[in-house]
Amino acid sequence: MREVVLVGAGAMGRAWMDAVGRRPDVRVSALVDVSVPAARQAAQERGWDIPCVATVAEAFAAVRQPDMLLNVTIPDAHREVSEAALRAGVPVLSEKPVTPTVADALALAAVSELHGTLLATSQSRRHAPGLRVFRDTVAAYGGAGQLDAAFFQNPRFGGFRDEMDSPLLVDMAIHTFDQARFVLESEPESVYCEEFSPSWSWYRGGAAAQAVFRFGNGARFGYSGSWCADGLTTSWNGAWRASSAGGSVEWDGEGTVRAQGREGPVQALPLPDEPEGLDAALAEFVDALDGGPAPSGEIRTNIWSLAMVEAAVASARTGGPVRFDDVFADAAAACVAAARAAGDDAVADLVASWGGAPPR
Ligand SMILES: NC(=O)c1ccc[n+]([C@@H]2O[C@H](COP(=O)([O-])OP(=O)(O)OC[C@H]3O[C@@H](n4cnc5c(N)ncnc54)[C@H](O)[C@@H]3O)[C@@H](O)[C@H]2O)c1
Repeated sequence: MREVVLVGAGAMGRAWMDAVGRRPDVRVSALVDVSVPAARQAAQERGWDIPCVATVAEAFAAVRQPDMLLNVTIPDAHREVSEAALRAGVPVLSEKPVTPTVADALALAAVSELHGTLLATSQSRRHAPGLRVFRDTVAAYGGAGQLDAAFFQNPRFGGFRDEMDSPLLVDMAIHTFDQARFVLESEPESVYCEEFSPSWSWYRGGAAAQAVFRFGNGARFGYSGSWCADGLTTSWNGAWRASSAGGSVEWDGEGTVRAQGREGPVQALPLPDEPEGLDAALAEFVDALDGGPAPSGEIRTNIWSLAMVEAAVASARTGGPVRFDDVFADAAAACVAAARAAGDDAVADLVASWGGAPPR
């Protein structure tokens, strides 16, 4: 039985408690939340008699040898919580975004490497059977030269998303960007992005964006998104189209993948019945602890999805194209300076030695 320390007993933390509860080989052994009553209530509702505490240190004192920590706190707390676990040698599966900035993510990647302790991000929307079939069919047609995702939704959240800067790009687009990396099996080199708010938007920050990414394999990825689009909404996974040498493939973001080769009819492709979402992300992570392959959200690869957000926001602010080499160089400089100021030369030296994105 693997022992999990789960940090963050909010809406998503509760979804993770239930995902852990669905597996017979993993159990939540302690809950951590700055609001201890929130943690206690979540435990009580599930009939769990486990320690409910305010800090990771208290949880590690109570659970002597946790096998992993699930970080489901708010993004601003991600680095502190994950770093405490990694430095104690406890592997971490973190909610997205792994940290709010690429500079912080580089620091965590360094701590993970220095302590030989796994850090991965759960990008739950990567684990959708439709996306896998879409990706495999695109690959069978020779890979996409042109990939497009349309994301049009109209949630009335209320709360922080209505007030924050760049709500669509910062809070949501990382899912779509991560899916694009998964489909293209390549990393981005540059982006041009415009962010704006239609006249009827109910958000303070930019609620719509259009972006073009150029990937290392020459593919272009076009993103068109809005969080204030009433009527004809797309799936929360977006609506996708890929154009390849061998034909074209569409995914509606839910259960329909359609493909047509250079010749022949349009085919609707069957989807496998396999774990998705949080269940799949947890399965991948537990497999890795058991000696399996690194999870698809391992920090050195997942950092590129975070960089796509940071680069798109930078392009929208400056009005020009942004190169990923520059995003990583600036983030590395900020990370090294902060680590030196904190007296952490080991992290500073390692990040400086990378000179950009962490090597894989
Ligand atoms: N994958 C998805 O589809 C998806 C969907 C929603 C949210 N999320 C992500 O999940 C994470 C949590 O989101 P949420 O909606 O549950 O937020 P939430 O505000 O409902 O819950 C966050 C909880 O973390 C606690 N917390 C904050 N700082 C803490 C700290 N330092 N130590 C311990 N606990 C702390 C808060 O008290 C709160 O109970 C975010 O990173 C968010 O982006 C992912």
